Amino acid sequence: VQGCTGILSLLSDRIDGEVLDAAGQSLRVISNFAVGYNNVDIAEAARRGIAVGNTPDVLTDATADIAVALLLASARRLREGWESVVSGRWKTWEPMGWVGQDLRGKTLGIIGMGRIGQAVAERLVHGWAMQLLYTSRSPKPEVDSQLGGRHVTLEQLLRDSDFVSVHLSLNAQTRHVINGDALRWAKPTCVLVNTARGEVIDQAALCDALREGKLFAAGLDVCDPEPLPTDSPLLKLPNCLVLPHIGSATVSARNAMAQRAADNLIAGIHGKPLPYPVPLPACS
Ligand code: GLV
Repeated sequence: VQGCTGILSLLSDRIDGEVLDAAGQSLRVISNFAVGYNNVDIAEAARRGIAVGNTPDVLTDATADIAVALLLASARRLREGWESVVSGRWKTWEPMGWVGQDLRGKTLGIIGMGRIGQAVAERLVHGWAMQLLYTSRSPKPEVDSQLGGRHVTLEQLLRDSDFVSVHLSLNAQTRHVINGDALRWAKPTCVLVNTARGEVIDQAALCDALREGKLFAAGLDVCDPEPLPTDSPLLKLPNCLVLPHIGSATVSARNAMAQRAADNLIAGIHGKPLPYPVPLPACS
């Protein structure tokens, strides 16, 4: 990065004070090819007057679709079914074979009611007549009126939901917010989905809860670390399905993200306001 005016970063690139120091005075912009920007130290960028951009909106639908795919796959035990087929453990049709959870009319808990959380809620409330609980910094009147949502505490959400989908951005306040204590609030029939960031969940505690039957299943598009080591205990659990962070992986979403990242980069290099800026903290 030395001497660069702009950096196009991926969510797997850590852009911290050391990288910014290495770039030096010439750096004007960091364009992150992602909507999440926990990989960029925005306080350090703000202190140096460097603009930071992200790629909001264009991956909302693609990511919401993956959350619903994981929810269905986990509720209906697709991983176990598939493994039974390929291993030859599938011998016959069984009345109680691979039975899972129904979706219709159940209670959905959305942790973090931003754009993606709302898109997941729309799909499941309209498609499967689910009742909606959610957490967010403040209640969202449009979610309450259009989707019948109810703003609740994390504890109430975990106690009452049959399906929980995590949509929090990662920061110091949200790291491991779903820890062992929080998981103990969940119903043993609960299906947990995470398409946000792996570090929001205490993965060791999740592993214990899944192994001990304190949760029915988990579907994770994100984990901690990424890639997940192949000897991770999580991968040994039949009730856990892990994907390689593909929430936004559709042709149109990735093209649109690339366009936004390029627009941010070019604007920043020319010293213009970014079209999709990340709000930077005020400097003291
Ligand atoms: C994907 O996780 C993103 O933040 O864009």
